[in-house]
Amino acid sequence: MTAFNLKKFIKDKEVKDLLAGLATSMDEDFCVKDNDNEILYGTDGGDMTNRLPVTANGETVGLVYGRNDKEIAVMATCLNHLTGAETLIRAQTAARQAAWNELTTIYDFVEQVNAFDIQQIADLLIRKVSGKIEADNVSVILINEKTGKLEFIPDGNGAAMSITAIAESLRSFGNAEIINDCRSDSRLATDSISSLIYAPIKAKGNNNAKPIGFAFASTTDTHPFSAADLDFFRTLVSQAASIIDNAILHKNTVRKKAVIDMAKTLVATLEKRDLYTAGHSRRVKKYSLAIADYLKDINTEDKDRLALAAELHDIGKVGVRDKVLLKPFKPTEDEWNEIKLHPIYGEEILTHIDEFEDVIKGVKYHHEHFDGSGYPDKLKGSNIDLFARIIAFADAFDAITTERPYERPFDGKKVLSPDDAFERLKKDAGTHFDPEVVAAFTKAFTDGKITA
Ligand SMILES: [Fe+2]
Ligand SMILES: [Fe+2]
Repeated sequence: MTAFNLKKFIKDKEVKDLLAGLATSMDEDFCVKDNDNEILYGTDGGDMTNRLPVTANGETVGLVYGRNDKEIAVMATCLNHLTGAETLIRAQTAARQAAWNELTTIYDFVEQVNAFDIQQIADLLIRKVSGKIEADNVSVILINEKTGKLEFIPDGNGAAMSITAIAESLRSFGNAEIINDCRSDSRLATDSISSLIYAPIKAKGNNNAKPIGFAFASTTDTHPFSAADLDFFRTLVSQAASIIDNAILHKNTVRKKAVIDMAKTLVATLEKRDLYTAGHSRRVKKYSLAIADYLKDINTEDKDRLALAAELHDIGKVGVRDKVLLKPFKPTEDEWNEIKLHPIYGEEILTHIDEFEDVIKGVKYHHEHFDGSGYPDKLKGSNIDLFARIIAFADAFDAITTERPYERPFDGKKVLSPDDAFERLKKDAGTHFDPEVVAAFTKAFTDGKITA
């Protein structure tokens, strides 16, 4: 805080008028001098030997002289009230200016950054911090949600070993803080930096959640960080946090869509390869959703997952050789065993992609039978994933109402009408199929919701 300038203060007309008014009302002469003995108000008549200090911010900034103690005391009290009020106004103005600067910085931040580019957000955060806080290093680190690994952005692996080690120590920190003596802080175990300022990056609107990352600035010299540095750093990081959180969400959504589109393209390619199953996945999805509409406790999100599982249920057939898959006659036992591997292949294709976590069971178990006589794991009853039980029925319904390479009319099997197929499959409730799924399908069928 700058020193209080008594001379400038007393030059103010309002202050001068007030002092003159006081002097007149008390019928006394006064003189105010600064610490250099310069007269700022009144005249020194030589007989003004009594004096009292004038203070501002707890420091003596001048003296008030007069002839009588009592009157001087009134004058000094009045002056000290005035300097106190002036100090307060200045502090408030400074605080308002600081708040304004902070707002401007944040506004700039939001304006300047591409809200979906995490690298760019981190880069801007680092530049903003570096422009305001004296630091040798500013790092932004995200914690990979799946692997738990720390990821420096925007550099990737560019951070020095010492900084990487400090980042590892910081991952267990909670609230924003300053450490101005890093070498004696047992949590850090470092000799490479002297001061550090830390702030967590928390997902928007969830301050109690574990941080999705953190930022820190450090110095190697003895320059300590101040409370104002921490305020600025914390505000900027928290602002960046909500943008980063949005960007991650956006990135995941884009990625999810890309991965799902890729899988659907794979299925479409498969169906092009095998003309007999053209449209099979689409129809199985449609029948599965019609069944789901008549089952209790299936919400919209479940239906989205079911739709995806149904659409991808035969994706594993890409692993079955053309010569087997496209064979126009009934397969041999070996060939049949190869076809029966497609649910496992499906699981293998989808298993490494997070986006498919919720649909794998529906794919893997769509050939299980309710009585345990299916494949690949001979699961029974409710041990079979509900999506798989639904898809199993939808799959069978489509299989017997459509020509297929290994169940074709010329092999002695007839393509059935929907009514005949329905009557035929109903008999397998409790053996092949989950009775509740069959009941749901029955209602959907009766209501005219099952159309080819
Ligand atoms: Fe299948
Ligand atoms: Fe199928």
